[in-house]
Formats: sequence, C-alpha cells, structure tokens
Amino acid sequence: MAPEPAKVLVVGRSGQVASALRAAAWPGFLALEWRGRESLDLRRPEAVAEAVRTGGWAAVINAAAYTQVDRAETEREDAWAVNRNGPAALAESCGRAGIPLIHLSTDYAFDGTKAEAYVETDAVNPASFYGLSKAEGEAAVRDGTAAHVIVRTSWVFSPVGTNFVKTMLRLGRERKELRIVDDQRGRPTAAADIADAVSRILAALLTGKSDGFGTFHFAGAGATSWHGFAREIFRQAALRGFAPVPAVTAIPTSAYPTPARRPINSVLDTTRIERVYGIVPRRWEDALGETLDALVRPAESTARKEVMR
Ligand SMILES: NC(=O)c1ccc[n+]([C@@H]2O[C@H](COP(=O)([O-])OP(=O)(O)OC[C@H]3O[C@@H](n4cnc5c(N)ncnc54)[C@H](OP(=O)(O)O)[C@@H]3O)[C@@H](O)[C@H]2O)c1
Repeated sequence: MAPEPAKVLVVGRSGQVASALRAAAWPGFLALEWRGRESLDLRRPEAVAEAVRTGGWAAVINAAAYTQVDRAETEREDAWAVNRNGPAALAESCGRAGIPLIHLSTDYAFDGTKAEAYVETDAVNPASFYGLSKAEGEAAVRDGTAAHVIVRTSWVFSPVGTNFVKTMLRLGRERKELRIVDDQRGRPTAAADIADAVSRILAALLTGKSDGFGTFHFAGAGATSWHGFAREIFRQAALRGFAPVPAVTAIPTSAYPTPARRPINSVLDTTRIERVYGIVPRRWEDALGETLDALVRPAESTARKEVMR
C-alpha cells in the first residue's frame, strides 16, 4: 500500500499567496489543506493551537496576514492580533508538535534608509504599524520554534486580491493620467513565484535534503520604482490589447501623503535563498506578463473601443 501523504496546513485561503499555493507544483507525497479566516482565525490563539495540535500535520505554512498597510495605523489591535499574536501561537504550537513552520514577512520590516539592498541580518526598524506588527510577528516565530523558515518578500502581485497591478489597470480604465511615486524602490514579486519558492523549501525540509531554517529574502529579480512598475504594466498591457493607455507621470513620495510611511529603499538581497536552496528568482517583468495574461482580455478592450466610438 502507498504511504499516506504528509498533510500540510496552509493558513489563509483566498489571499494572493494562499491562492497561488493552490496552483503551485507540489510533490506527490504532500497533501495541502487550506483554512480561511472563517475556519481558522489567527486572532484566536487557542483555536490556532488546537488546529495545529489535532491535525496530524507534517508542516504549517502561514500565508495569512493583516495586509492593509494604511488601515493598520488605526486598526492596531486587529493588525497586532493577526500579524504578531497569531504567528506567535502558530510557532509555539509547531514547536510543541515538532513540525516546521514557514512564515511570510515583509520588506516593510525595514525603514528603507540603507543605501544598498537589505540582507537578512540587517536590523529591522519598521516605519509603519503594519511593519512593526510584522517584525514583531517574525520575532515571535523565532522565539516560538527553531524549526522556522521566514520568507521576507516585497511588492506582491497576482491575478487575485488587491495589488498594485490590479489597481493600475482599474485606474487606467478610469483616468487619462496617473501620477505615481518614483522615489521608492523595490522588487516586484509574483505570488506564483513565492508559492513556487515555498513549495521547494518545504519539499527540501521534509525530505531531509535541507536543514536551512532561519530568515530568507525572496523577491522578483530586478529593482524598480512604483512609477517604473506602472509604466511596465501599461507597456505590457498594451501589447495584450489594453487601450487607451494612460499617461504615467512620476511624482515624489512627498506629493502622495499616506497614513503609513513606506520605506524609500525596499530592495531585498536574495543571495541567501539562492545559495542555501538554489532558488533563483526570475525577472519580475516576465512574471508580470503571466499575471497580465490572466487580467487583460483582448475581448474586453475591443468591447471598450466599441463603446467609445
Ligand atoms: N501584499 C504585498 O504586497 C506583500 C508584500 C510583502 C510581504 N507580504 C506578505 O506576504 C504574505 C501574504 O500576503 P498576501 O498579499 O497574500 O495577503 P492578502 O492577499 O491580503 O491575503 C491575506 C490572507 O490573510 C488571511 N487572513 C486575514 N485575516 C485573517 C485572520 N484573522 N485569520 C486568518 N487568516 C486571515 C486572509 O484570509 P481569507 O483567505 O479567509 O481571506 C487571506 O488569505 C503576508 O505575510 C504579507 O505580510 C505581502
């Protein structure tokens, strides 16, 4: 008889990364189960502990987070409960069960004042409450279990959920000109590529091919500004029939005030994950093309032209 597959709990169901994990290639010996917030609420530590203790899991992936960066400035309790206390409970329970935890975190743990790309050993110093809640979540995961992999990523996009690519396409349909910040730099990252990295990390850990625990940076290859990102979105969208393309004007951060401060430099150095796991990120522009294939339908743009005639 074939051995039972190893069960993996994914916390989060409909988010960008949680959804991408569903489409990722998984080795046949793993069976993943997703829990959305309605069935496993990270704000309830005792429910989290119970779910980890009783599931017979071989590993846990935490793809869930409170991700509304500006709203976190006022909804502090919620952001803290989901981003700090939930992961703390997950890590403690995984530690007790003796199973690895893969946890996702963010470039917003850094203040963005460094001139070069951030490496894993750089000190965190978040500039926003969201960043603080995520940085403290990371710390709690490290305290809770040695068998953790924290994957810090940045500027996530995918065909689902809320993200910069979808926002640009929506605004592009509504306006002739978009004014986009040009002095914050980062590495756009496809949720599909994060899912692929997580799948490879977990497979390596569970087959004993790696004991690479700790913190890793993973982000799409190449850095740009939000303005550069927007221009590339519309360049590639136009190739897929999106029209008319809005003018994209560069503005400084000072001209676009937001409740939460963002790091000026969000660029993550990914050398460590390349060295330890052999995971080499692809160009973010290539990954963007795949996302736009799913989001820009030539039929839709043809219909818009008809309406405009
Ligand atoms: N988005 C970015 O640009 C970005 C950048 C850097 C790092 N990250 C990190 O990457 C990870 C994934 O982000 P994402 O973009 O995939 O997020 P997302 O699309 O906003 O999805 C958030 C997920 O969190 C779940 N969730 C929210 N509140 C919850 C609660 N109380 N209990 C349980 N689950 C809850 C949601 O559950 P449901 O499935 O039930 O809706 C959803 O699956 C996060 O750790 C985030 O901090 C994101």
